[in-house]
Amino acid sequence: KKGEAWSARFSEPVSDLVKRYTASVFFDNRMAQVDIQGSLAHAEMLAHQGIISAADYAEIQRGMAQIKGEIEAGQFEWLLDLEDVHLNIEKRLTELVGDAGKRLHTGRSRNDQVATDIRLYMRGAVDDIIGLLRELRLALLDLAEQHADTILPGFTHMQVAQPITFGHHVLAYVEMFGRDAERMIDARKRINRLPLGAAALAGTTFPIDRLRVAKTLGFDDVCRNSLDAVSDRDFAIEFCAGAALVMTHISRMSEELVIWMSPRVGFIDIADRFCTGSSIMPQKKNPDVPELARGKTGRVNGHLIALLTLMKGQPLAYNKDNQEDKEPLFDTVDTLTDTLRIFADMARGISVKPEAMRAAALQGYATATDLADYLVKKGLPFRDAHEAVAHAVRTCVDKGCDLADLSLADLRAFSDLIGEDVFAVLTLEGSVAARDHIGGTAPKQVRAAIAQLRKELN
Ligand code: ARG
Repeated sequence: KKGEAWSARFSEPVSDLVKRYTASVFFDNRMAQVDIQGSLAHAEMLAHQGIISAADYAEIQRGMAQIKGEIEAGQFEWLLDLEDVHLNIEKRLTELVGDAGKRLHTGRSRNDQVATDIRLYMRGAVDDIIGLLRELRLALLDLAEQHADTILPGFTHMQVAQPITFGHHVLAYVEMFGRDAERMIDARKRINRLPLGAAALAGTTFPIDRLRVAKTLGFDDVCRNSLDAVSDRDFAIEFCAGAALVMTHISRMSEELVIWMSPRVGFIDIADRFCTGSSIMPQKKNPDVPELARGKTGRVNGHLIALLTLMKGQPLAYNKDNQEDKEPLFDTVDTLTDTLRIFADMARGISVKPEAMRAAALQGYATATDLADYLVKKGLPFRDAHEAVAHAVRTCVDKGCDLADLSLADLRAFSDLIGEDVFAVLTLEGSVAARDHIGGTAPKQVRAAIAQLRKELN
């Protein structure tokens, strides 16, 4: 029979249901290329150390090259009977090169093999994600730059708070995605260590050279404790935690995009290629991409919890539980990668409607704080200024007008410190331009922040 990797020890085969239940090949075969890469580095070390012959190593190389080709061409036959990606490839190798293939697993276990594969796979995925986070930030920087002067209301509690520039608002997301990238870069340090050499759990009796394998595979170091090497999945959890935060930021942004695109708000439009229509309502254009991203955040958060729960009850060292790490991890990588790729593109498909933003900023007494600050600068204690402006706003609410609509005489009824110069303070432009310090919303500061961020990203 083609399967049955360890039949000698057993008196009966597993049932088909158990076979399906325990197999991982149909999802872990995405690690095929890194599995081959890891095996070749291991075999090279075995040959260098004289544990296998140079001839065997050459045969292994030859066989693996063929297998790689078969996989790339979609011709490799994955067998459920052979449980996982590792046994499938090893078995094929032996078919192709005979005894040399059977020697490959010397001084190695699937436990350290799979841990190595996941780390190699993750390293590539994290590098992609770091690149995509950069692209997204570059796209957002362009958007921020186009709208360094565009004014919209800033909100707290979803109520109009103070005028801000749209560029400044967009830069808030650039900051979030910047921290996300830092977290990924940091997680990569702990991903990039080599478990191979730990074997099943205790190490091996063969004179292996772990540092050599680490160097071949581009790892910064080896995992220092063999038990930890085969059972640690922190690196995957850390990545999922970082991914959950990226998605949380994406989700917040999505929520805003959906609100902004609602006709009731009408601050932006999103290019048609990111939206869909309705099967019944001909007039509809729905922001599907941000909505779906908001929804997918739930599944990524779920994967983080799945991995934390997977690990919490495991005694040392390897347990089969660990096989359950892959689907949540791979789905996290796929969801995050696709989402970031789409968002980097979509950020360039956002068209801003400055008139609508401006009209909204003119409602809701967005410059009330500016009036209070004005009075403070004239000598009034802030709490008294706050009270005086509250009265003024109350009057405007009753009259149905804006603060700037009041005459100087009207305004002076609330404080005789108010003079003709107050009207400059009540304008939207005056309000944003006055917040002129690092981190403030003034267009000048937004431009400075963009320049700084561009420097950091290049
Ligand atoms: N497919 C297994 C996994 O994903 C590989 C390691 C199996 N090791 C074992 N002792 N059963 O974890």
